[in-house]
Amino acid sequence: MSDFRGDGRAALDWVAEYLERVGELPVASSASPGEVRARLPASPPERAEPFEAVLHDLDDVILPGITHWNHPRFLGYFAISGSEPGILAELLIAALNVNAMLWSTSPAATEVEELALDWLRQLLGLREGLHGHIEDTASTATIAALAAARELRPGGIVLTSEQANFSVAKAAKLIGLECRLVPVDDEFRMRTDALAEEIDGATAVVATAGTTSTTSVDPIPEIAGLCGQAGVWLHVDAAYAGSAAVCEEFSWTLDGAEHADSIVVNPHKWLFTPIDCSCLWTRRPDAFLRAFSATPEYMPESSDVTDLKDYGPALGRRFRGLKLWVVLRCYGREGLQALIREHVRLAQLFASWVEDTPGWEVVAPHPFSVVCFRREGSDEENEALLARVNASGEAFLTHTRLNGRLVLHLAVGNVRTTEDDVRRAWEALQQAAG
Ligand SMILES: Cc1ncc(COP(=O)(O)O)c(C=O)c1O
Repeated sequence: MSDFRGDGRAALDWVAEYLERVGELPVASSASPGEVRARLPASPPERAEPFEAVLHDLDDVILPGITHWNHPRFLGYFAISGSEPGILAELLIAALNVNAMLWSTSPAATEVEELALDWLRQLLGLREGLHGHIEDTASTATIAALAAARELRPGGIVLTSEQANFSVAKAAKLIGLECRLVPVDDEFRMRTDALAEEIDGATAVVATAGTTSTTSVDPIPEIAGLCGQAGVWLHVDAAYAGSAAVCEEFSWTLDGAEHADSIVVNPHKWLFTPIDCSCLWTRRPDAFLRAFSATPEYMPESSDVTDLKDYGPALGRRFRGLKLWVVLRCYGREGLQALIREHVRLAQLFASWVEDTPGWEVVAPHPFSVVCFRREGSDEENEALLARVNASGEAFLTHTRLNGRLVLHLAVGNVRTTEDDVRRAWEALQQAAG
């Protein structure tokens, strides 16, 4: 690259302008399969191209194929944010480009990761003395937790609720455990009477604080009691709703988690950290070491320091701790609380509009920033309505299925989402409903 500073300024300007105008772009891409690729050369260039040409294609070819997750009216799945501090931190991480596999391969990377995890532990009110490390995703964190559990109880089954994220079943399958789904009550929480019937001999229970469809919170204190009696590992999947516990009024979300053997919270879901950043804490680091520790000849054995490669499946590890540390510093407890509270307020406001409008209904409790709702009519009609809203480009929502019925799912989670954005989404829904 001939002009790193000039190109760097251009890239940063591109990012700043993108973030300023993203709210005016259609949220979902309307590209058809193969369209983006067809517009790009099939073979790599022989000669170096200027970085400027890349930015040109970014606007011309890539953006039309982007569904804008950083858009204020991206309200599907769990809406997320690449916040400005997080974006800049990603640049710094790439510049340092360290591999945090061993303490000695970059001492600051391990120590900042551990520190950032301890700060977040304090912000969430988790117990002291937990060992923490960062994985790319909650899917990987759950694989790691179940592999650790298997060290203590080989074979066996994993119990989780019917509403748990499918990454739990995937993780169980991958490490050779059978996953059984425990029924839920009428508020979509794991039924502890049903769990009690199955728990003896199980390897692990995965309880969810904030399920993917409705954000229901399993009764973790009771589940922890059953796990304690049966000697079964308890993993708490708080990937989305765990972040709410930065606000005192949501500390109940993690009630009972003090008894968990492991717990995962994803700052890349609702803590404004660019994907990927998934925090995994455990009070059983010994079990993780049994599952993952291995020292090849070419790596020095460490005695009095932590080598984070020994706690999860990957050897190579990005310096993710840096972006978490930057986000926590640049928002502070107050900034994080203000955003979470605003997102919850917007979701509650949206729910009130739905409830007050004939022909629409809210279909599940909505304690956080997600609302499940539907329009009177068939599943096909609701599906078509959703497709019309998403095709309009005005807003992007997703769906789920509850009690056999297709329902619409609106999630607020982006730092740029305002009341006006949520109102525009509601208007788009009403317009699409005719
Ligand atoms: C409750 C819950 N757990 C786990 C996951 C998986 O998260 P990841 O994409 O980080 O693997 C999700 C994804 O949405 C989720 O909603």
